[in-house]
Amino acid sequence: MKAMITTAYGSADVFQLKELPKPTAGPNELLIKIHASSVTKADTMMRTGKPYIGRLFTGISKPKMEVWGCGFAGTVEAVGSAVSKFKKGDKVFGENINQMGAYAEYIILQENGILAPLPQNLSFEEAAGMCDGAITSLNFLLNLGKIKKGDKVLINGASGSLGTAAVQIAKYYGADVSGVCSAKNAEMVKALGADKTIDYKEEDFTQHENTYDLIYDTVGKSSFSAAKKALTENGQYLSPVLGMPLMVDMIKTAVYGKKKAKFSATGALPLKETKRLMEIMREMIEEGKLYGVIDRCYDLEELSEAHQYVDRGHKKGNVVVLPTAA
Ligand SMILES: NC(=O)c1ccc[n+]([C@@H]2O[C@H](COP(=O)([O-])OP(=O)(O)OC[C@H]3O[C@@H](n4cnc5c(N)ncnc54)[C@H](OP(=O)(O)O)[C@@H]3O)[C@@H](O)[C@H]2O)c1
Repeated sequence: MKAMITTAYGSADVFQLKELPKPTAGPNELLIKIHASSVTKADTMMRTGKPYIGRLFTGISKPKMEVWGCGFAGTVEAVGSAVSKFKKGDKVFGENINQMGAYAEYIILQENGILAPLPQNLSFEEAAGMCDGAITSLNFLLNLGKIKKGDKVLINGASGSLGTAAVQIAKYYGADVSGVCSAKNAEMVKALGADKTIDYKEEDFTQHENTYDLIYDTVGKSSFSAAKKALTENGQYLSPVLGMPLMVDMIKTAVYGKKKAKFSATGALPLKETKRLMEIMREMIEEGKLYGVIDRCYDLEELSEAHQYVDRGHKKGNVVVLPTAA
């Protein structure tokens, strides 16, 4: 099978096309033919090996896995002898968080892994692209933020992968949603359900006073100390981008004050919890309440270009690569 491999951390041109043996499924495994895989901001960070702390999981001096790529959607080509929930020909999507391997024509998944049947109203491209953003934003808004009807929620980075999902999720749970994005993306963010958009090049949301019950800064461009006054009395500041200031603010606010700063590593959640969030995502998709926004699609061989594009930090929703035709 064709695969894009990496043997070192580095820039977007570390990928090389290689012919690898087609894998075979063990008793509890599925062999999946991949039609689309995602290229996320998190993927580009893993590729660079920075921040270095991430290398504790991905390999200290070089990547442990030859083939990167986490989110995927495809068709089950073969199942192991003990598999009961899936059969050959099923359309599926999911994430292979620990083993990776989605930048290839085929992938092996455990039957009980992060995997679900593809909703009928979702394309392979949408499905592969949206898992990371939707599962992460469900984790932040539901588990950390305990979002509820009537909450005033501000999503910073509303046009990105996490942000486009977050706007839809916050609206679904009955919040009043303000989406921070640039003018070029305002129409899209409104169409996803935002009640209001704020152009980050014209207005600084951190200067608002006592306004938001939840501030979810999906792109980590603000800080708790700057955004604090924009929070209501018991407001919470959530960010998926961990740096030293956020760590200090989390420790401080865990002990003092009503306003809290919070972070979670969604990829490190217990499997059972990730599967629960994926099921919520799948139900929302089937109800027509959650869509995947696709910015660009690339052929598998163009993976370096796809990573370069995501590196720039201005994608709209999600970017996918297409290892095989559906
Ligand atoms: N902790 C976790 O569990 C977890 C899980 C997944 C991802 N993450 C992290 O979450 C972060 C976001 O990921 P993502 O995939 O959503 O990013 P992304 O899609 O690459 O974000 C790009 C978007 O951000 C917007 N943007 C750029 N600068 C902005 C600013 N100053 N203010 C507001 N919006 C701005 C861009 O809009 P313009 O083009 O208009 O600038 C663009 O649409 C990454 O750092 C990723 O590593 C964490």
